[in-house]
Amino acid sequence: MIIVLILFLSYLIGSISFAIIFGFVLKKVDIRTLGSGNAGATNVKRVLGWRIGSIVMILDFFKSFIPILLIGKLELSLDIEIIRILMLLCLIIGHVYPIFFSFKGGKGVATAAGGITALFPPAFPFCLVIFIITILLTRYVSVASLITAWTLPIYYFIYTIIDKGTRSTPILLFFIIVTILITIFHKKNIIRLFNREESKITSSP
Ligand code: G3P
Repeated sequence: MIIVLILFLSYLIGSISFAIIFGFVLKKVDIRTLGSGNAGATNVKRVLGWRIGSIVMILDFFKSFIPILLIGKLELSLDIEIIRILMLLCLIIGHVYPIFFSFKGGKGVATAAGGITALFPPAFPFCLVIFIITILLTRYVSVASLITAWTLPIYYFIYTIIDKGTRSTPILLFFIIVTILITIFHKKNIIRLFNREESKITSSP
């Protein structure tokens, strides 16, 4: 069935871990053995510098933004919104448990952000502002990721009260699921934050 193929392809695309690839190709290191051990843009910034970290973040964002956007162009007889939601779940799961890299990947924040932007574009400026303000206030990327994830469903709920008739229950439920998943994926960060062992983001390369 076409939907199974689409979801499997989404999982494979999600499994392309740019943090791991850039670590191996540019510096011959496994990013998962350095810094926080996370295969994500924050840890790449921490270990390999902000330039490579920024590139990884952009690529992780677009690896979900583009497929979620493009799938709407296909003539499918299935509910496109549900397909997009399921695709994004598979993209995030692929990023966190990549088939190409022993199922040990990142936390899915940039990948979730890309797909969510394609699903609900007003999320992007809101999430960006919350993310930046939280980083400026706390210097913790993990706290910024968590606060942004926690506020997204609330923002969607309020936004769709003001913009009457636009609320989609599947999207609202999906945002709540993403919030729960992002929180679970940050379990180690939350423990480190409680133990005051979480490292702050610095302006150094
Ligand atoms: O999105 C990941 C970020 O919130 C935390 O990354 O490397 O500090 O565990 P890291």
